[in-house]
Amino acid sequence: MALLPLCHRDEIPDGAARGFLPLPEALRRVIVVRRGQRLDAYMDSCPHYTGGTPMAWRRDAYLNGDGTHLACHAHCALFDIDTGDCVSGPCLGRKLTRVTLTEDQVGYLSVPAHVAGCAARKE
Ligand code: FES
Repeated sequence: MALLPLCHRDEIPDGAARGFLPLPEALRRVIVVRRGQRLDAYMDSCPHYTGGTPMAWRRDAYLNGDGTHLACHAHCALFDIDTGDCVSGPCLGRKLTRVTLTEDQVGYLSVPAHVAGCAARKE
């Protein structure tokens, strides 16, 4: 499987989320959330509308105010960080598209190359 380099784990502060483009011409960022040593990654593509919508109202604003959920600020949807499931808002029953992270021995993260052209998951 072809991989694209994304970032280093230390670029994401503990308890924060950041978005990274896997390629400069990629359609969507990949959101990486760090909680301690745990990392979760999803496409920056809200499933509310077919085709997906970028979720942050400003750069890297992917979490709600308490930092407990991923949030789409367009219509206030909240998503479980562990599963990507929408738990509140207009896309209940849908989920974010999880991205598999591959980490090397010194903390650099890569993603499958196909995510560079990925949009929202259709449910
Ligand atoms: S576009 Fe994300 S909640 Fe509507």
